[in-house]
Amino acid sequence: MKILVINGPNLNMLGIREPDHYGKETYEDLLNKIKAHCQTKGVEVAFYQSNHEGDLVDAIQGAYGVMDGIVINPGAYTHTSIALLDAVKSVGIPTVEVHISKVEEREEFRQISYIRLACAKTITGRGTDGYLMAIDFLLNGK
Ligand code: DQA
Repeated sequence: MKILVINGPNLNMLGIREPDHYGKETYEDLLNKIKAHCQTKGVEVAFYQSNHEGDLVDAIQGAYGVMDGIVINPGAYTHTSIALLDAVKSVGIPTVEVHISKVEEREEFRQISYIRLACAKTITGRGTDGYLMAIDFLLNGK
């Protein structure tokens, strides 16, 4: 099983940005945590982070025929990007949407998720553990 973990804009700033919402773990801490989890589960994992919408589309397209699953936190593009939705639909790879914060309890503009329409599951408000839960879902379907 090969899983691509994609993080969108400002997630490289984890640990620095708004710790009340996103915690104190850095982006590197997040990658190490996911790597350790995947090792115990026998999952091959790859990572991609970008602040640019088109680059995220390219990363999703690049997973076609290569990856068995995608875990994506599209950051603010969650709430604006039809291009990311279409990219996930295009490749047809099982995809789980993750948000570190509990978006449903935040501002009105965070209540829309375009990409959700193409995702098998959405995990919110579980901190960085949400990424591990997403990987387990792709592995076990729950
Ligand atoms: C986020 C929530 C988004 O609304 C926000 O723009 C982010 C992070 C989260 O992980 O909780 O950048 O996706």
